[in-house]
Amino acid sequence: MSGPLWCVVPAAGRGTRVGGDIPKQYLPLAGRPLILHTLERLAAHPQVAGLMVVLGSADDQWPGTTTLSGKPVLTCLGGTERCDSVLAGLRALPPEVTDEAFVLVHDAARPCVRERDIARLIELGILAGGGLLGAPLRDTLKRAGGDGRSHETEPRDHRWRAFTPQMFRRGELSAALLAASLAGVTVSDEAMAMERAGFAPLLVEGAEDNIKVTTATDFALAEFLLPRTK
Ligand code: CTP
Ligand code: MG
Repeated sequence: MSGPLWCVVPAAGRGTRVGGDIPKQYLPLAGRPLILHTLERLAAHPQVAGLMVVLGSADDQWPGTTTLSGKPVLTCLGGTERCDSVLAGLRALPPEVTDEAFVLVHDAARPCVRERDIARLIELGILAGGGLLGAPLRDTLKRAGGDGRSHETEPRDHRWRAFTPQMFRRGELSAALLAASLAGVTVSDEAMAMERAGFAPLLVEGAEDNIKVTTATDFALAEFLLPRTK
């Protein structure tokens, strides 16, 4: 069994779909910047050793946090796409994090992640060689045409929504993200990079209220969920 794990937190996005004056991770959620809720929840987890927060190059909002729950909080610079930011975060991890060590990757924009889901991902994911939180698709899935009409109904079986955290070995994930980047493929999550590299990440079912704050209306929902997902 592995000891506590480092967590890479991509927070270098601009939050264009929220459309605020500052990136969404710094907008107030229950009176404090969204990202602080996420970081505090991760740092409070007994199985998390430290946080590597990946910031945008134009970020003038980062509060300069260096420890949370007695654990180190480090920062580095991200890139154009989320996958570039995650790779930058993996590279910037301290040398004590070996290539074989498992690393969690968790979106700054997911403040409502539950402690027990993180624990479950770590427990099952380590046995499986890597995995991610997600949930089976519940709604019927439609294929839309350019005319805005539904043209086909896609099968729902075996289809999952992918959440974070996602957990892989530092070396394998870095290599997979680099390979995707060199191939010109923008992977939308870590699991996609690992799939391309021939791995089959374990899908660990997590609570669906682990929402990614994406639009302005998500703030009200996240505020409702925060105290209820502790
Ligand atoms: N992210 C990042 N680097 C990027 C793009 C995104 O670190 N180049 C981070 C975001 O800060 C966020 C997470 O990845 O915590 C998930 O991305 P998303 O929800 O898409 O956030 P944004 O890209 O900021 O939002 P949008 O797509 O609406 O601009
Ligand atoms: Mg984005």
